[in-house]
Amino acid sequence: MYAILCPLRIAVLLFPAFTALDVFGPLGVLNVLALNHSMTLSLLSTNMNPISIDRNIIDGVYEGNPDRESHYFTQYVLPTHTLDDAPEADVIIVPGGGGTRNISATQPHVDWLKTQVNDPALSYMMTVCTGASLLARTGEIAGRNATTNKAAFNWVKSVEYADEVNWIPKARWVVDGHVWTSSGVSAGTDMTLGWVEHMYGKEEKERIRIGMEWNALEQEDDPFAEIMGLV
Ligand SMILES: *[C@@H]1O[C@H](CO)[C@@H](O)[C@H](O)[C@H]1NC(C)=O
Ligand SMILES: *[C@@H]1O[C@H](CO)[C@@H](O)[C@H](O)[C@H]1NC(C)=O
Ligand SMILES: *[C@@H]1O[C@H](CO)[C@@H](O)[C@H](O)[C@H]1NC(C)=O
Repeated sequence: MYAILCPLRIAVLLFPAFTALDVFGPLGVLNVLALNHSMTLSLLSTNMNPISIDRNIIDGVYEGNPDRESHYFTQYVLPTHTLDDAPEADVIIVPGGGGTRNISATQPHVDWLKTQVNDPALSYMMTVCTGASLLARTGEIAGRNATTNKAAFNWVKSVEYADEVNWIPKARWVVDGHVWTSSGVSAGTDMTLGWVEHMYGKEEKERIRIGMEWNALEQEDDPFAEIMGLV
């Protein structure tokens, strides 16, 4: 168990077409944790517009194929701060999703992350799924171990500076110093529960896990590496 920061300041980085569960799985855990711990949350974006999980909706305007009816199938999240006025955080969580593939749209996020990753004021840098590609693109995790979504593994390994990272093919999540990276989507929730255990102990993790009826995989349990032919 580590010294408990008070209040614990969490920031989640958002961009269009983030994967919903990458954000709301970890927040599902932290929402319960926050009932009994002093915590703050900021949701960061390039501007204050609602952010859609649909990659074709930019600043609230649908820019994709107008014949595609499923653009009504989306959800929006309201940011609390822009990257320019982001409050200091103890923990930064970066989700993945289709939006990470848009290199130009996510460049402001990468530029901001670059200023944060190795800032001594930051206690934990976490990514879920292909959020690891944004972290790799900062060039600030050279030589570190990391993992990402096994179905997108080779794409993530192809982004700028990703060749400097030691990508671990079989791991539900990887911890290297203050950098925590998880495998795909649901793995972010397992990693967050693992982080609760690291911070507050196993009993607290189990209290939350059982309350949310989450069938957690452990750090070394990664059936998806084999399914995707990575091991
Ligand atoms: C969490 O806080 C609530 C009230 O705020 C209290 O009833 C409950 O016992 C606390 N649980 C733990 C595990 O501390
Ligand atoms: C990338 O995002 C920009 C908005 O920042 C948008 O104009 C462009 O169409 C997107 N590209 C793709 C391939 O989705
Ligand atoms: C990084 O991964 C290698 C295996 O590829 C392992 O030997 C090493 O201990 C790991 N380093 C850390 C800091 O976990």
